[in-house]
Amino acid sequence: MTKRMIDNMREACQLAADTLLMVGEHIKPGVSTDELNTLVHEYTLKHKARPAPLNYKGFPKSTCTSLNEVICHGIPGDRVLADGDIINVDVTSVLPAEHGYYGDTSATFYVGEPSEEAKRVVEVARRCLELGIEQVRPRGRLGDIGAAIQEYAEAQGCSVVRDYVGHGIGRSFHMPPQVPHYGRRGTLVRMKPGMVFTIEPMINVGGYETELLSDGWTVVTRDRSLSAQFEHTVVVTRSGCEVLTRRSGRLAHSEDVPWADLGPLSCWVESPAA
Ligand code: MF3
Ligand code: CO
Ligand code: CO
Repeated sequence: MTKRMIDNMREACQLAADTLLMVGEHIKPGVSTDELNTLVHEYTLKHKARPAPLNYKGFPKSTCTSLNEVICHGIPGDRVLADGDIINVDVTSVLPAEHGYYGDTSATFYVGEPSEEAKRVVEVARRCLELGIEQVRPRGRLGDIGAAIQEYAEAQGCSVVRDYVGHGIGRSFHMPPQVPHYGRRGTLVRMKPGMVFTIEPMINVGGYETELLSDGWTVVTRDRSLSAQFEHTVVVTRSGCEVLTRRSGRLAHSEDVPWADLGPLSCWVESPAA
């Protein structure tokens, strides 16, 4: 992508990031996933953008809400958040609404008091995204990203989902290249400045196998173990990486908890822009 296209991408990505910050403030027991969907939908329209999921290949809602054993693509509905749940909210904004650029980002939130297992899978997933981002640099290989993520996740006793991967993004939601969250260093395509893609590791407490529910969208862990995910859209710069969906503050009910593993690599607030 050219400098100008990246400037447009940054605007779409920052709207998605702001939407996620807004959603975080509303996470609490008793709120339905449909209410979260409405918040995302209205915030997006108010900012002259369009929620990419709505009608995408027939998806019926404006955001994905994936609870507990749901890995991704959960459909908002009547389900009400309960104490101890974890929930991933995945926001993709298209700006401008017509023929615009796509910004894709997600985070997992804690509802009330989490179990030790919930904390582990969420914090491992959070760190996996950071470790993946740390591998982004010109002349590096896409396989370096997956290798870093897989090594860490498995060392922590978790597994990495294989069936769903990160993706190129720009004027389309999903485009080449695929960005696996597992694999070997020195493999796959070489990164070069201007490449834009997502990194979105899905990390399970149990096995990595997936199952698609009969609604045709909801992806769950086959063993029904907990799953967590974080996603950013990034661009390869001349000196490394810029996180286009970086946040201007801490995510409520996710990054504000004392056990959040933000660490030295964390990409909120500061930008590593070249
Ligand atoms: N936002 C998801 C991703 O990270 C894709 C959701 S597709 C939908 O790639 F149709 F389920 F919205
Ligand atoms: Co994505
Ligand atoms: Co997404």
